[in-house]
Amino acid sequence: TKYKIAVIVGSLRKESFNLKTAKALMELAPESLSLELVDIAGLPMYNEDLEETTPKEWLALRKEIKAVDGLLFLTPEYNRSITGVLKNAIDVGSRPYGKGAWDGKPGAVISVSPGNIGGFGANHHLRQSLIFVNVPTMAQPEAYIGGAADLFDDKGKLTNDSTRDFLKEFMEAFEKWVITNAKKQQKMFN
Ligand code: FNR
Repeated sequence: TKYKIAVIVGSLRKESFNLKTAKALMELAPESLSLELVDIAGLPMYNEDLEETTPKEWLALRKEIKAVDGLLFLTPEYNRSITGVLKNAIDVGSRPYGKGAWDGKPGAVISVSPGNIGGFGANHHLRQSLIFVNVPTMAQPEAYIGGAADLFDDKGKLTNDSTRDFLKEFMEAFEKWVITNAKKQQKMFN
């Protein structure tokens, strides 16, 4: 079976280290996982008033998320938390109440930062929201990728061997997490 995994990158930057990491993961991921990047750049800012007509970009995101078997989040850290663009995507996907798109999908979090604490604050703030939207999030291994400015070559390729090995192990653990949780998806809503 191929499990479809939505890859959600919390940075809009062309040269984003999180995006470069996501691209490396696409090469490292086990055969059974098929990773696709989700575009969250064009989502109108969440506003409950808009639910009356519902922006087409929101509908597209919700549909795309409902169709996958797992969620892989790559988050930068802005001011010790996640980026506004990522929080907006989580909020958009979480509504309308009782029909959240994230519900029950197995997930994992990787934070990537040029700083030396690897986006720890963002990683854990993201987990706080994921608990509320009922995403069973893999606890271990944790992935705090620091010093990100030194991990890639000028073409954006991941050249650091120990990071590559670590991410490969991470993806193998995530594969198990997806397979286990896909079977017994505990949904809050129906
Ligand atoms: C940052 N950056 C940052 N880094 C960090 O490790 N902890 C932090 O709290 C912050 N805060 C922060 C706030 C704002 C507004 C900006 C623009 C940046 C630096 C950040 O990690 C860096 O810009 C990364 O390159 C962002 O991730 P991408 O775009 O490379 O994926």
